[in-house]
Amino acid sequence: MIKLKTVSEIDAMAVAGKAAAHALRAMKSVAAPGMTTMDLEDIARSELQTHNARPALLGYHPRFSKVPYEFATCISVNDEVIHGLPSRQRILREGDVVGLDLVADVDGWLADTAITIVVGKGSPKAQKLLSVTQEALRHGIAKATAGAKMGDISSAVQRLVERNGFGVIRELSGHGVGTEVHEEGIDVPNFGIAGKGLPLQVGMTFCIEPMVTAGAPGIKHRPGDPWAVVTRDGSIGAHFEHTVAITESGARILTALS
Ligand code: MF3
Ligand code: CO
Ligand code: CO
Repeated sequence: MIKLKTVSEIDAMAVAGKAAAHALRAMKSVAAPGMTTMDLEDIARSELQTHNARPALLGYHPRFSKVPYEFATCISVNDEVIHGLPSRQRILREGDVVGLDLVADVDGWLADTAITIVVGKGSPKAQKLLSVTQEALRHGIAKATAGAKMGDISSAVQRLVERNGFGVIRELSGHGVGTEVHEEGIDVPNFGIAGKGLPLQVGMTFCIEPMVTAGAPGIKHRPGDPWAVVTRDGSIGAHFEHTVAITESGARILTALS
């Protein structure tokens, strides 16, 4: 069952979304060689607090894990695509490709957003991977209108990525979001067929989150690390994510800065 949201509930999610967007911006603006990924986690926590938001991932117990998550953010470096753990040992270096993902909670309403950044100056390949993944997200959002189908979003994301010579990860999708990080009933694949799939309705709120690799799109886990999802071939990965609501007038991005 899909929990449709009212206009005022969507407004409440947008408050959380703004806090989340500000936390990402703060992390991006300070990221520099020599910092640790835990330094970025600390900045996210304080920025969320400034916006009266609770870090929804802290203590969150996803279905796929035996234990709850212990951080406010997921910070995924280079071949880590998602669910990298902040660490005092992980020192950022020039050229590192770093995914920043977090969920803010204000008064029980959640919003989930992610960006990928390059520390210092990135390689042309890394820059292209990031811009293509971000553009794929924009193309997906443009299809998120009432009366369309989920496959319209999925195929728009896939097409943009593949046209640029990259591949989407097929095992990982976007999801419903609202009062929980992952709400049942909505799945947002990053590949699919236009005109097929779930009909989109006013009041749906979900995350669109393309996950793209520079090499082959296969993924794996490292022995001993149940969290980080890494590319099989060691190539770099990128991840951009917005929470959107389907409104009468199209998609509303709930995780924008303003
Ligand atoms: N923010 C992630 C997403 O986009 C969820 C992280 S789940 C966690 O779906 F367990 F790793 F925290
Ligand atoms: Co996320
Ligand atoms: Co998400």
